[in-house]
Amino acid sequence: MTRTALITGASRGLGRALARQLAADGWHLIIDARGADALTDVRRELAQHTSVQALVGDVRDAAHRAALATAAQASGGLDLLVNNASTLGPSPQPTLLDYPLDTLAEVYAVNVLAPLGLIQAVQGQLKPGARIINISSDAGVEAYPGWGGYGSSKAALDHLSAILAAERPDLRVYAVDPGDMNTQMHQEAFPGEDISDRPAPETSVPGLIELIGGALPSGRYQARNLPQPRQGGAQELRVALTVADYPAAVRQYRDGLGLPELSAWDRPDGRGMLLDAGHAVLELLDERQSASIDAIEAGGAQAGPLRLVFKVADLQASGDSMVDHGATVVRDPVDTPWGHRNLRLRSNADLPLTLFIERNDTDA
Ligand SMILES: NC(=O)c1ccc[n+]([C@@H]2O[C@H](COP(=O)([O-])OP(=O)(O)OC[C@H]3O[C@@H](n4cnc5c(N)ncnc54)[C@H](OP(=O)(O)O)[C@@H]3O)[C@@H](O)[C@H]2O)c1
Repeated sequence: MTRTALITGASRGLGRALARQLAADGWHLIIDARGADALTDVRRELAQHTSVQALVGDVRDAAHRAALATAAQASGGLDLLVNNASTLGPSPQPTLLDYPLDTLAEVYAVNVLAPLGLIQAVQGQLKPGARIINISSDAGVEAYPGWGGYGSSKAALDHLSAILAAERPDLRVYAVDPGDMNTQMHQEAFPGEDISDRPAPETSVPGLIELIGGALPSGRYQARNLPQPRQGGAQELRVALTVADYPAAVRQYRDGLGLPELSAWDRPDGRGMLLDAGHAVLELLDERQSASIDAIEAGGAQAGPLRLVFKVADLQASGDSMVDHGATVVRDPVDTPWGHRNLRLRSNADLPLTLFIERNDTDA
């Protein structure tokens, strides 16, 4: 199942660095920029690793944004939208009392209105669980003299991101400060200055990858302060269940337990769905330990080699909902010696399930 990302301003700088990483990871990419030559060069480079659609255009242009949305639709929808294209405005930047308002309106058109316009244009193409990353700046938070135009546009983008996240809790909406980077925009901000000591844009990419692949909540982040993806071990645990009654399984876990749908597919060779089950842990038990747990939480009913265990916020509500959606109660909730309150169920496909809360999670 190919994942698709739309990245604006990917012909150089941070957008290109992120596109390179996602191409290496096998994502299908839709990219844009105004300059055709640089964009064509990047498309050719990325196409050695993955499929790429490159659309020349200006994010301020509604027709261009519509074309990007059409490309997203033709790709089967978006898993990721990155609003990265941006303008500094004039350089040197005028102070606010001298800032020509028509010029300021141009800065806002690129940095605020275009990102929202693109989100609006692709809203019907966002797959369940899609992520939106709006690239911000420390100038959106810090009051640097001379940065009033660009800085206030990034502050507006931050707040817009936060409100969108509140309005659409089904999406993950991130505003991300990438940190100073040795790019054309940074050189424009410091004309004539040697900026070779600034980090390359590639140093901000691992943080973005953590937001793209991880389970962090919507919010504002600094790319370089995010945990870096781990090199060793695993980055995700997936439990794949093969079920005879697929709709019943969807009802059980998506609707009954309320697991957010990340993506779903229906192809000639079959159907499948990814559900976000929160943080993943692989629990290994020897047979004696497993039998002891069975005795405590299930009155001795044996789970066998595989049992799904979900930590929930409200044991009573989640248990009732699971029963409403076809699960059966093996034993009423029990307080365990290890500080949990556990409820053993069997799923509608006869799989052993444990729901639990940590006892200090509740007033009870
Ligand atoms: N560099 C830094 O130190 C720094 C610090 C904090 C935040 N940021 C943010 O990081 C992001 C990336 O910046 P960067 O430094 O990588 O910039 P950059 O090197 O100047 O690259 C900007 C990219 O956006 C494209 N672009 C600019 N205006 C566009 C428009 N109106 N429509 C379509 N594409 C457009 C550019 O191509 P064309 O010019 O050909 O269109 C280019 O591909 C920006 O959001 C920026 O505000 C940068």
